[in-house]
Amino acid sequence: MSNDINNHKTLPPILSVGALSRRSGIAISAIHFYEREGLLRSTRNAVGHRRYSRASLRILAIIKAGQRAGIPLASIRHALGPAVSGDALGQDEWQRISEGWRADLEERIRTLELVRDRLSGCIRCGCLSHEACRMFNPGDTAAADGPGAKGLEVQHFGPDSAG
Ligand code: FES
Repeated sequence: MSNDINNHKTLPPILSVGALSRRSGIAISAIHFYEREGLLRSTRNAVGHRRYSRASLRILAIIKAGQRAGIPLASIRHALGPAVSGDALGQDEWQRISEGWRADLEERIRTLELVRDRLSGCIRCGCLSHEACRMFNPGDTAAADGPGAKGLEVQHFGPDSAG
């Protein structure tokens, strides 16, 4: 067997956890974790070692992309659905998964943009100005509005509150 893990044509159809880890760039412990969490499946060979289909590489890529986008594991697992079985992931299936994330991703992007805009004055500032700073909360007067950092929460961001 070739050691060239970057050329997928040299990969066997069934991968050990080490080969899957090297090819995906994901730690073996993380692969086991995803498997325990129901995002990935393996079979056992004759001597009881875990073996993964090559489709597992795509599943791991989707998990990694989802996690980088801040999508919770439970949502990733839900989106993967039957793809977790390890069967090859077809175009239709991938389209279904990516479409399912669209609204969530758009909401996350909107939230990040709003938080960025709210914090933009604070970055490298540190003034905690009474007039300008959303972090300013003398005597915890914001507690009257309920739990959380009210000055930074998205539901408090409206067209009238921008600035
Ligand atoms: S720290 Fe200066 S505006 Fe927030």
